[in-house]
Amino acid sequence: MKAYVIKDGLGIDYLKQVDLQVPTPGKNEVLIRMRAVSLNARDIPALNGYFNNQSTAPFIPGSDGAGEIIALGEEADKFQIGDRVAGIFNQKWITGEMSPEYNDGELGGSLDGLLAEYVVLSQEGLVRIPEHLSYVEAASLPCAAVTAWHAVVEDGKVKAGDTVVIQGTGGVSIFALQFAKFSGANVIITSSSDDKLEKAKALGANHTINYKTTPDWEKAVLEYTNNRGADLIIEVSGSTLNRSIEAVRQNGQINLIGALSGKEVENLSLLPIFTRKVRLHGVRTGNRDMFEAMNRAIKYNALYPVIDRVFSFANAVDAFKYLEDKDYFGKICISLE
Ligand SMILES: NC(=O)c1ccc[n+]([C@@H]2O[C@H](COP(=O)([O-])OP(=O)(O)OC[C@H]3O[C@@H](n4cnc5c(N)ncnc54)[C@H](OP(=O)(O)O)[C@@H]3O)[C@@H](O)[C@H]2O)c1
Repeated sequence: MKAYVIKDGLGIDYLKQVDLQVPTPGKNEVLIRMRAVSLNARDIPALNGYFNNQSTAPFIPGSDGAGEIIALGEEADKFQIGDRVAGIFNQKWITGEMSPEYNDGELGGSLDGLLAEYVVLSQEGLVRIPEHLSYVEAASLPCAAVTAWHAVVEDGKVKAGDTVVIQGTGGVSIFALQFAKFSGANVIITSSSDDKLEKAKALGANHTINYKTTPDWEKAVLEYTNNRGADLIIEVSGSTLNRSIEAVRQNGQINLIGALSGKEVENLSLLPIFTRKVRLHGVRTGNRDMFEAMNRAIKYNALYPVIDRVFSFANAVDAFKYLEDKDYFGKICISLE
């Protein structure tokens, strides 16, 4: 079978297509014919060995993918041949809270990923994908959509009428916009691009702010909300946390997901956090239960993921370069059809 591996070095220049043996499923495992893979911001540090500590060992990237089950291990009884499935991002995190012993369960990180024609996974590490979605659309769900679901619905507990600020228009953020909208929220979205803000409006964003031309976007949020502030802020930027602390309402919540603009916050304002009882909450992808709950919501709301571009398997390296260029809206996918 064909697969992509990082070998003989780290980084995108060492991503190569190779021939590998088709893996055989063990007792409780299944063999999946992969049909599509999607990329996330984390795939660039992953190519650089950030997550797997395997230095230059051959390593298959790609945490997110969907495909069809084509063989079952002798005790695998949860699925049938032909079932359409996606892998869960963290193969060990099935239910309940994240725990340190699950840290080495991430596909395309500590474990090999899915950018291969055939993959073996535990039957516990899979979910059925919504019937109305194509394989490409379903491949976009495991990391970005589950994280957005976790941030907006499970931990954000967004209610109709809440105001939610969502930063940026990447994978997590566009799913967060879609989930906040079907929860009945008033959504403010920020972007560095007016064109992307127009696209976000078409998806239902109520108010848009260009964070390049309006770097003090927190003032624009306060103005738009008549000084009340937002109920929830989906923070993917990181180093702008002080602005989010200003923009969130008293007793509001900031769900910190990423650190795209930097991992340090200069002069972090502590006083407003306790005087205004701001809840600062870290979010980490999500478990299988969340993925299944999200899929039900995707089905009943007939939601379709926003796919920016689909690359062929032969051109997978170009997909990673496109990810590196950061000029996309929603998800980048690779089709193996
Ligand atoms: N905690 C977790 O478990 C978890 C799970 C998934 C992702 N993440 C993290 O969440 C972040 C987003 O992931 P992703 O896969 O959605 O990334 P992505 O698809 O690459 O999205 C990147 C987008 O973020 C926006 N952005 C960058 N800097 C920004 C800033 N200073 N202010 C506002 N928006 C900014 C940009 O939007 P515009 O182009 O519109 O400006 C950019 O297109 C990453 O840091 C990722 O590592 C964490």
